[in-house]
Amino acid sequence: MHPAVRMRALRIRPSVPRLRPSQRPFVHPTRQASTAATDARSAATRTKNFVYGTALTLALSFGYLYVTDTRSSIHEWLVVPALRQVYPDAEDAHHAGTKIVKALHSFGLNPRERGDPDAAGDLAVEVFGHTLVNPIGTSAGMDKGADIVTPVFELGAGLVEVGAITPLAQEGNPKPRVFRLPSQNALINRYGFNSEGAETVAMRLRHRVRQFAYHAGLGIDEEAERKVLDGEAGVPPGSLVPGRLLAVQIAKNKTTSEQDIEAVKRDYTACVNKLAKYADIIVVNVSSPNTPGLRALQNVEPLTQLLNSVVQAAKKVDRKTKPAIMVKVSPDEDSEEQVSGICEAVWDSGVDGVIVGNTTKKRPDPLPKGYLLPQDEANLLLEQGGYSGPQMFERTLSLVRKYRKALDDGPKQLPPSPSKPDVPSVGPSTGDEPDSSIVAKLQASKSPSEAIDSAASKLPPASVELHSEASPPPTNVDDLSASAPIATSKPAAVPPRNPAPAPVTAGPRKVIFATGGITNGRQAREILDAGASVAQVYTAIIYGGVGTISRIKEEMREEANKNR
Ligand SMILES: Cc1cc2nc3c(=O)[nH]c(=O)nc-3n(C[C@H](O)[C@H](O)[C@H](O)COP(=O)(O)O)c2cc1C
Ligand SMILES: *[C@@H]1O[C@H](CO)[C@@H](O)[C@H](O)[C@H]1NC(C)=O
Ligand SMILES: *[C@@H]1O[C@H](CO)[C@@H](O)[C@H](O)[C@H]1NC(C)=O
Ligand SMILES: *[C@@H]1O[C@H](CO)[C@@H](O)[C@H](O)[C@H]1NC(C)=O
Repeated sequence: MHPAVRMRALRIRPSVPRLRPSQRPFVHPTRQASTAATDARSAATRTKNFVYGTALTLALSFGYLYVTDTRSSIHEWLVVPALRQVYPDAEDAHHAGTKIVKALHSFGLNPRERGDPDAAGDLAVEVFGHTLVNPIGTSAGMDKGADIVTPVFELGAGLVEVGAITPLAQEGNPKPRVFRLPSQNALINRYGFNSEGAETVAMRLRHRVRQFAYHAGLGIDEEAERKVLDGEAGVPPGSLVPGRLLAVQIAKNKTTSEQDIEAVKRDYTACVNKLAKYADIIVVNVSSPNTPGLRALQNVEPLTQLLNSVVQAAKKVDRKTKPAIMVKVSPDEDSEEQVSGICEAVWDSGVDGVIVGNTTKKRPDPLPKGYLLPQDEANLLLEQGGYSGPQMFERTLSLVRKYRKALDDGPKQLPPSPSKPDVPSVGPSTGDEPDSSIVAKLQASKSPSEAIDSAASKLPPASVELHSEASPPPTNVDDLSASAPIATSKPAAVPPRNPAPAPVTAGPRKVIFATGGITNGRQAREILDAGASVAQVYTAIIYGGVGTISRIKEEMREEANKNR
């Protein structure tokens, strides 16, 4: 642990008993200074508690409506700083926040978006054949155990991603493992995939479905659960809320070697078997050594296999509609080869989309440029872990553009033969292909796309209309209708055309979600314009509080009106 962090950790222990002067034992002179410091601190704690208590009382007397409305600024200006003060450790604050939301929800007192601002449909987006009421989502790590799915939807999110969830319960890295950089509204985390395990989380999700079934008058038994999951209640089986989707992220056990493809496949499959029933979308966290990189030629194939094992497992899910499958890729894997290798694996495996972005191992320059970080934050930059914060936005945006273009270029099939299905149906496909043909593929794919790269930078970004009509080709809406399997829908074969700028796709356009540094409505719009369907936020909520999603959507509407 970094010394500065240890100091901080020590400073939090507030439990030094406070004694009146007469009760104080003799203190050795060298310890007096520290006692004085303790006094000062306990005075500070008293003041803090007083301020906090008073504020809370005031807040409550503002009235239930105000306090439980996500648009009330109290959440940002009072609750966030109060949590930070009371819980100096970022992880403790997070647990407390989750607990509070959960408790409030059980009393119907959770903060929520009022007035149904999305009803007008002005922010609606099409995703996997569903119309999402809005394109703002939360991302993985915020609700790892699926504890607060319903209240997070009630904050206004169109999509909630829970997880990551591992096959077995595991601790993750030793604490502290989350650090705040308040001057930057940023975080560094090295949780290391702490998880309650797939079984426990699946039980929790199942309970949620059964409760829903009960309130829908369907009973509370297995048959009631089946009805809800098969769409008989008219809601998506994961989110259980019309116009919203639940994504569940899965990962491997810590003890499973990344090199052991078969073992990793077993882990993913185990997670899918337990969890996929309760998900609209399964997200796979892909392991680094399996990410195509400089060794792209060796690694496209294992990645394809891994992803394909998830696609296959999801097809067997005992539910009328199957979950869509997405893969989450790191922003640090952004070279041309990595992007094209990953896209190739996406096409070959039959995965439905990519979540572009994540935390970064890099340490961005502070904002504003030239700003000197306070010393304690500068020290924290040395902590290992993934960095998240507003600085990441431009990288996320450019990565979305790269992926949009690479995915719209379609599968790299040589030679393009119209008789061959464009989407390899299933099965590890290219295992016995001679290296030379793979080399040819990569080379063929590379030069044209680079040419477009430079051309594209001079063009306005490809615009994705919020209403689906203008979305490029053939997302076959019939295939994807609520009653049809999402992931298994057979795309209409479109003969590949070669000249590049017009996207050539074989089957439904691959879906992109974006995450990383998105903090406001203008940025969310830019992300959508670059070709993503959903903008996910996490760190912005940690600093902005429960009103963040409502605010971002409101800003998106203002942007739209400005440009009208
Ligand atoms: C504390 C913390 C835990 C996270 N846990 C996960 C995780 O389990 N799986 C994952 O794919 N991403 C995880 N992330 C990454 C976020 O989902 C998100 O992609 C990233 O923070 C960038 O978005 P942001 O700038 O909006 O925070 C985590 C991020 C943070 C800050
Ligand atoms: C990891 O998950 C698998 C499921 O694939 C489980 O059966 C196995 O016991 C776990 N491995 C270890 C070492 O705990
Ligand atoms: C998740 O993916 C990242 C990046 O590829 C990798 O470093 C990590 O080991 C993966 N973790 C799990 C648990 O799958
Ligand atoms: C995403 O970020 C989390 C948290 O920083 C990290 O544990 C995980 O390995 C990352 N996954 C990928 C695919 O990069």
